[in-house]
Amino acid sequence: MGLRQSSPRGLVVANTPNMNIDIPEYIKTLAPYVPGKPISETKREFGLKKVVKLASNENPLGPSPRAVRAYRNACKELNLYPDSSAFDLKRGLAREHHLPDSWFLIGNGSNELMDLFMRSFCITGDEIVISEAAFIAYKVCAQVIGLKSIETPMTSDYRFDLTKMLNAIKSHERVKFVFVPNPNNPTGTWVTKEELDHFMSEVAKVRGGSVIVVLDYAYWEYVTDPKIPEPNQYLKKYPNVVVLRTFSKVYGIAGLRVGYAIAHPDLLGPVQKVRQPFNVNAPALAAATEALKDRAFVKKSAMINRMGMKQWVKALGALKIPFLPSQGNFILVNVNKGMGMWGNEVFQECLKKGVILRPVTNYGLPEFLRISIGTPAENKTAIEALKSINASQGSK
Ligand SMILES: Cc1ncc(COP(=O)(O)O)c(C=O)c1O
Repeated sequence: MGLRQSSPRGLVVANTPNMNIDIPEYIKTLAPYVPGKPISETKREFGLKKVVKLASNENPLGPSPRAVRAYRNACKELNLYPDSSAFDLKRGLAREHHLPDSWFLIGNGSNELMDLFMRSFCITGDEIVISEAAFIAYKVCAQVIGLKSIETPMTSDYRFDLTKMLNAIKSHERVKFVFVPNPNNPTGTWVTKEELDHFMSEVAKVRGGSVIVVLDYAYWEYVTDPKIPEPNQYLKKYPNVVVLRTFSKVYGIAGLRVGYAIAHPDLLGPVQKVRQPFNVNAPALAAATEALKDRAFVKKSAMINRMGMKQWVKALGALKIPFLPSQGNFILVNVNKGMGMWGNEVFQECLKKGVILRPVTNYGLPEFLRISIGTPAENKTAIEALKSINASQGSK
């Protein structure tokens, strides 16, 4: 079949022998999101019985038992469509946040919400501003609809440089969104209240306040540093703010895919129209509604994370492997400096020992590995694996 290189509409042609279908250039060049390696796949590939996965910033305690009960209960009505308005969950969130129900939008994970917001407000050729090494989903969602990501350099200590981000917003006319994950994944680094206060007041002045600031607080429940600002305070002050939150981390139901956005109803209006009517399934809605009430589980999860973080900090210190300070449920470790190996190499060696960690080469950080904080026993297994790889590396 004859293949054209480009068409009059500026589209490229799929380069397989069997198709002559136009696809946009930005889809052709899209680097898809690479998830953490699954446990089942690792067991199969390496013939292992036991595998520890510390690769996707999941909750090592499992799901909230109350959420599981609610999920099971909801399964009795699987013949019915979900409540598209997510009434119960929004009511719960409204209570929790002291805001009206109309300020909430529920998504199939907060990832879906990033995608929906961009689809609702942007046209092809518009731009978003992100920092280098920001959570990669922003860039992927943007490219899927032909948006351009303007990436600004981090500081030398791997923090977001909000001054550079502000300058990028000012100098690029077509910027519609700026994303500030706080703390960021995979770096674990954060911006302070002082920095964010200034940034927000300046962004509000750019092009009549038409740039939307997305404050992604996926890891907020793990935060211990009082310098990190509570996000809802900005909602009250500025109309162009979206706060993203998720049930995938501290609430332990990543497998169900529930996240939510908080914003002024005027900002949520267009997104309500763009989302599919039943974007979150019924058992997931029921489980999230109950997970929200399970305060004891949230508290325990945050506590386990603090303990695990201490365990890692101590072990990495003893192994002389440098890492970045983190306010999330994960830690970014410089294995290149500490072990003389690339992140990918240590990842491969760990797999053989039944430990899945996360390489971050796709973030431009090939010398690092990201490690999710597990239970004390899981952490110990992963620390032992690193120790033995380090020892055999030293003896080479
Ligand atoms: C910063 C950040 N935001 C959002 C998400 C996605 O969360 P969800 O599972 O709600 O889509 C993640 C997941 O790892 C994340 O690291």
